[in-house]
Amino acid sequence: MIPITVVDVRDAEDLVVEVLRSGAIAQGPMVKRFEDAFASVSGTKHAIAVNNGTTALVAAIQALDLKPGDEVVTSPFTFVATLNAILEAGATVRFADIRRDDFAIDPDAVAAAITDRTKVLMPVHLYGQTADMGKLAPLAAEHGLKIIEDSAQAVGASFQGKPSGSFGIGCFSLYATKNVTTAEGGVITTDDDKLADSLRVLRNQGMRARYQYEVAGHNYRMTDLHAAVGIPQLEKLDQLTAARQANAKRLSEGLAGTPGLDIPQVLPGREHVWHQYTVLVGPHAFLSRDELAAALTERGIGNGIYYPKIVFDYDCYRNNPLIPDAKVEDFPVAASVAAQALSLPVHPHLSESDLDTIIETVREVLGA
Ligand SMILES: Cc1ncc(COP(=O)(O)O)c(C=O)c1O
Repeated sequence: MIPITVVDVRDAEDLVVEVLRSGAIAQGPMVKRFEDAFASVSGTKHAIAVNNGTTALVAAIQALDLKPGDEVVTSPFTFVATLNAILEAGATVRFADIRRDDFAIDPDAVAAAITDRTKVLMPVHLYGQTADMGKLAPLAAEHGLKIIEDSAQAVGASFQGKPSGSFGIGCFSLYATKNVTTAEGGVITTDDDKLADSLRVLRNQGMRARYQYEVAGHNYRMTDLHAAVGIPQLEKLDQLTAARQANAKRLSEGLAGTPGLDIPQVLPGREHVWHQYTVLVGPHAFLSRDELAAALTERGIGNGIYYPKIVFDYDCYRNNPLIPDAKVEDFPVAASVAAQALSLPVHPHLSESDLDTIIETVREVLGA
């Protein structure tokens, strides 16, 4: 079996043992060390570690002090955490359709979705490539919107040299399968001193000094144990990313010209960090997406469907007053991508022969 993902954190053993021996295992100096290393990756002044990527998004929205009815514009093609975080923070969600080339929100659709209640633009940098920040950042500025980037899948990615998470408030996930992991964890990045301060207070029950509460906060803290797991990966992130990029290049060369298959693109000026390598299985392919997924699984090639449906197209979200007017038919690109997307292994632990096997098997079952 060639798995879709491999978690390898063995190089964290010494640091984790150091924390265990210290007896101070909750948030402490290791979290600070992790935050400093992360801020240099995201090119931001501050990195605030939290306990997962979902709470990173919730805290980022909460720190903006939105009023009831204020709106966040985001992508309908994303992991459910994006939507759940907005709802948890009590904001109203508006969706903008995506583009087929980068799987992220289409600036033209965003412009159409903005109303006089819109306060936040939340692009999702899906699969490891940023959204079109060259158009989205000026659009946000023009309408006075804050940008919260869902950078959960895009640590180390950049747009015209500017790192993901540095365009506004960056929210990263460090979940086990992410390019950098602490098992569970998240990070919020910002250049804004005041916002960073608010986030640190919010993270710790709204408390600045012991039992001095400034806001109704939460426990969003990361532990030193988790931070210790992530530090070695940040130190060798360039190497890990380069391995993903080399694997993606080889997959794309090998799969080029397979009938009915669209291979993922790296758009000009964007550094793609390949959290996922996602092909689109078009209507003229020899097998449907689901048939291809089943055929690959049967032949020992791990694969994943991220994501099978538009994010709000589930009973639990219907008639939610915080998701007004959301209709599946208004998002044709997201709907067609959700029906065609299939991710193949691209992680840094693939061997040359694994890559050959993936390429040969996909080509063979699609009759290439
Ligand atoms: C796009 C996206 N947003 C948010 C999250 C939430 O992160 P977490 O699972 O760490 O809460 C994830 C990852 O799971 C994600 O892929």
